[in-house]
Amino acid sequence: MRSTELMTVRWKDNSVVMIDQTKLPDKLVYVKCTNYEQVADCIKRLVVRGAPAIGVAAAFGLALTAVKSKASSTSELMHELETAFKILRSTRPTAVNLFWALDRLMRKAKSQSTMKAIKEAVLSEASKMAEEDIQANRQMGSFGAALIEDGDAILTHCNAGALATVAYGTALGVLRAAKEKGKRINVIATETRPVLQGARLTAFELKHDGIDVTVAPDTAVGSLMGRGMIKKVIVGADRVLRTGHVFNKIGTYQVAILANKHNIPFYVAAPVSSFDLKSDPDQVTIEERSFDEVTSMGGTRVVPKGVRVFNPAFDVTPPELISGIITEKGVLTPPYDKSIKTVLG
Ligand code: MRU
Repeated sequence: MRSTELMTVRWKDNSVVMIDQTKLPDKLVYVKCTNYEQVADCIKRLVVRGAPAIGVAAAFGLALTAVKSKASSTSELMHELETAFKILRSTRPTAVNLFWALDRLMRKAKSQSTMKAIKEAVLSEASKMAEEDIQANRQMGSFGAALIEDGDAILTHCNAGALATVAYGTALGVLRAAKEKGKRINVIATETRPVLQGARLTAFELKHDGIDVTVAPDTAVGSLMGRGMIKKVIVGADRVLRTGHVFNKIGTYQVAILANKHNIPFYVAAPVSSFDLKSDPDQVTIEERSFDEVTSMGGTRVVPKGVRVFNPAFDVTPPELISGIITEKGVLTPPYDKSIKTVLG
């Protein structure tokens, strides 16, 4: 790992250290969490966000509970872990990585028989997840880079980069890998109202890494596509279903419709930890966030008081609008019910 590489979440000296994404792009500062309540608060407030990063942060939150526990029996320790597990699970509802990571850690804890073994197993499993995340992103990058051509202008929505994972990124990992292979690319980052993950975070991390990036309002996507300025779209995912339905940041669906209208390939990059092979589309909860995110910009009120607001944080893109789903196991192509079953079982 290069010394300048952004590490979004890591374990350090019995604490969890995360980049405070609420302070970007102005300041690159870190927060240190020493208990799971602080981790849960950071997930809720979007200090740490992005599906894989949320999963690993929550896993480290559970590890903090185990490592710092003063319990005097395994049942007391398991009770503390169950409490932390419930609180961490309730932080955000849509990204499946959160549930995947916490379930995996609890299974690991339950399969141990002593307190020492539980503590060691939970921390080592969480650390393993963090490592696996980086490896999966690099693997996705190498598969996805083959889809990118020299000179491509690529649109991305929200932030599916290093800041949404432990490091390197999913959609932006593919772009990093393409650049590492010598392909010249330029990236158009949509602002991504209302929280501006594109304008604040994608632009920050691509500039940080010397990748050509231009920010455009969400409302400019149709115009840019109509003018031939976009060759491909690549986005991340919070949850991919067995049918190929993709839940991702609000606005993804309309980008996918516009790409389809203009015959522009629309790719999703998502690790296996973002797949939910059990749920149907109507069983997934779409997070509704605070109205303040919409009614104010930079501390200034932009919507009259007393006016109703909608603020869904995610939408669902149906499989027929998706050209390919890039995973660490390869690029899945339609029909997704078949390719997902073949590759992920
Ligand atoms: O609300 P956020 O910022 O957590 O939403 C993030 C996204 O929608 C990302 O596109 C998704 O998590 C993929 S991250 C690799």
